[in-house]
Amino acid sequence: MGHRELRGRRLRGSPAIRRLIGETRLSAERLVLPLFVEPGDRIRQPIRSMPGVFRTSVDELVRDGVGAHELGLGGVILFGIPAAQAKDEQGTEAWADDGIVQRAVRALKSEIPELLVITDVCLCEYTSHGHCGVVHEGQILNDETCRLLARVAVSHASAGADIIAPSDMMDLRVGVIRDALDASAFVQTPIMSYSAKYASAFYGPFRDAALSTPSFGDRAGYQMDPGNAEEALREVRADLEEGADIVMVKPALAYLDVIRRVKEETGAPVAAYHVSGEYSAIMAAIERGWLEESAMREALTSIRRAGADVIISYWAREFARGS
Ligand code: PBG
Repeated sequence: MGHRELRGRRLRGSPAIRRLIGETRLSAERLVLPLFVEPGDRIRQPIRSMPGVFRTSVDELVRDGVGAHELGLGGVILFGIPAAQAKDEQGTEAWADDGIVQRAVRALKSEIPELLVITDVCLCEYTSHGHCGVVHEGQILNDETCRLLARVAVSHASAGADIIAPSDMMDLRVGVIRDALDASAFVQTPIMSYSAKYASAFYGPFRDAALSTPSFGDRAGYQMDPGNAEEALREVRADLEEGADIVMVKPALAYLDVIRRVKEETGAPVAAYHVSGEYSAIMAAIERGWLEESAMREALTSIRRAGADVIISYWAREFARGS
């Protein structure tokens, strides 16, 4: 038997054979749709820098929740945008029992109990200065912030959130939140931690949407340096030890190597956030006719191929509909 050269094209000859041997399959049930909710009624406000994404009031949010459920998505993740006058130094509105996220969760869970509802836990949308924590003399205080985040987490769980997702990048917050949830009878509520969250320019459109741009400085004192991968693994391991159930890498496309390493080296359930700027860059090119729509599916598939179990995507609905 002589040596034969690879004839890879034999397995690419028809759609049927390509389907048969395809390695990476992404399905709608792994996709989580981010939704932005604000006070008011019948509001559906387009976000300029994110084509196809809206800020809605709770009534409209419920319609989007029904849609997400009917399309078979994995779930939704909620971001609250409080009224401008409700913002203060500490972000008090973030743990108000009748806060915007708390009301949104109750409405979604009473209308569509089967829909998985994840809540983003952070202070940046609620603080007057737009930072993710308490500010003292220009510094973001760590442990004080963790205590507030724990209150936010418990208030979300009390409203009925299925998963709590802290995105602030304070040290030790997963443990503090875990203790607070356990002490409030939410032992069974999982934490999906934004473990390796980089200080990224790709969050720009989100900050437009959530009105959460810091009024001074940047987030490099708590979010990670984009060049660091070993550090991501340390962060992920620390979060798992503190009780995280799902660990997240964010952004996704620019950090596929990190997703792969986290998956291989921990084996934990891994989420990846295909963030606003990654979405909007592709959308802008699609709108100009410079890219075909299938670019979005390709991007999401690559995130799955890298090892993500859960993908947060603004394209989740379109993907589920076959685009
Ligand atoms: C809140 C938060 C941000 C995102 C998710 N949670 C913004 C930030 O850290 O500035 C970004 C999501 C996106 O860009 O799609 N801390």
